[in-house]
Amino acid sequence: MKTLISSDVRLLANLIQEGKVVVFPTETVYGIGASTRLESACLRVYEIKGRPKDNPLIAHFHSIESIAAVCELGEVGRALLERFSPGPLTLILPKKDKSLFPKELDTLAVRIPKNPVVREWIELSRGPVSAPSANLSGRPSLTKLSDVLRYFDGVVDGILVAEEPSFGIESTVVSLVGKSPALLRPGSIESNELLKILPKLWIPGPGSQKETGSVPLSPGTKYKHYAPTARVILASKEEFEFSLKTMNESKSTAWIGFSFEEIELNEGKKFGDLHPIFKSDRFCFVSSNEDYAAKLYAFFESCDFAGFDTIFCEVPKPGKGEEGLRNRLEKAISI
Ligand code: TXA
Ligand code: MG
Repeated sequence: MKTLISSDVRLLANLIQEGKVVVFPTETVYGIGASTRLESACLRVYEIKGRPKDNPLIAHFHSIESIAAVCELGEVGRALLERFSPGPLTLILPKKDKSLFPKELDTLAVRIPKNPVVREWIELSRGPVSAPSANLSGRPSLTKLSDVLRYFDGVVDGILVAEEPSFGIESTVVSLVGKSPALLRPGSIESNELLKILPKLWIPGPGSQKETGSVPLSPGTKYKHYAPTARVILASKEEFEFSLKTMNESKSTAWIGFSFEEIELNEGKKFGDLHPIFKSDRFCFVSSNEDYAAKLYAFFESCDFAGFDTIFCEVPKPGKGEEGLRNRLEKAISI
């Protein structure tokens, strides 16, 4: 298949209207989208990704009013969107327009991406545009155009070229249906900010779904996610430094974290003495939790591409940006 790779929003909007599948960047990760109004187009997205059919898609909108036209937004929903949108927040809302995909559900996940070019494309597509993250099911989401091209050139009808993702992890998902509002997936918009508008927000503790044995509220949370092929080890600062100090250069191990600078490697070598090419391949320095999130998936992807078999990930710093990042790292190590 010939893939149209272009920054022309009109051409790519035409593809969506014709029932085609288009990969596009958002501020979080790349998405693989089709018209929410065309079931067969949405089903093709599942086929391409190898995604389980019971895991619904997020519908991407260009404005709050376009959401209010098809869902019951309510006061709280509107307050949340006014505070955090456009941006990395997804709300689960009761659906008014029952013709929207997936037809069998009476709820719809909605979000408004931050990039104005992408919003213009959605509007021109006569959106919404339903899209999961653009990756093969179970693999880490993609944040680099070069990775998108490797997986999707020749597979989808179009790729929208626009600003690359900067947050790096998927949106925060909040359910406003059911008994009380619930945080279904942590992300860059953190629970302490959400609690200011939603004081009764239910925040699952570690393993709470496993303990109660309840059906997960968001179908996606029950699947293996975000994991590279390489084995991921979540290491404390001490463990991370120890593993670097004792590293065996012939072994195929990689590291992502904060604590490289102070380290003296074996045989008196300093970290900075390593050859830059060798260095950039195996080591990923991060300066904050936000920087870590922005680089994580692309690093996972490059490690798999290079054939590394183990990746040491240093634990995030306590505080801002920790919640979503820790969740993704823990998912990457779970089997
Ligand atoms: O940042 C993001 O959210 C990216 C970009 C492309 O927007 N999208 C993304 O989509 O991460 P996906 O499909 O990988 O994750 C969507 C999550 C899944 O866990 C899914 O189960 C949940 O949202 N979800 C979607 N519709 C739902 C619904 N009606 N009720 C409950 N959960 C829903
Ligand atoms: Mg995904």
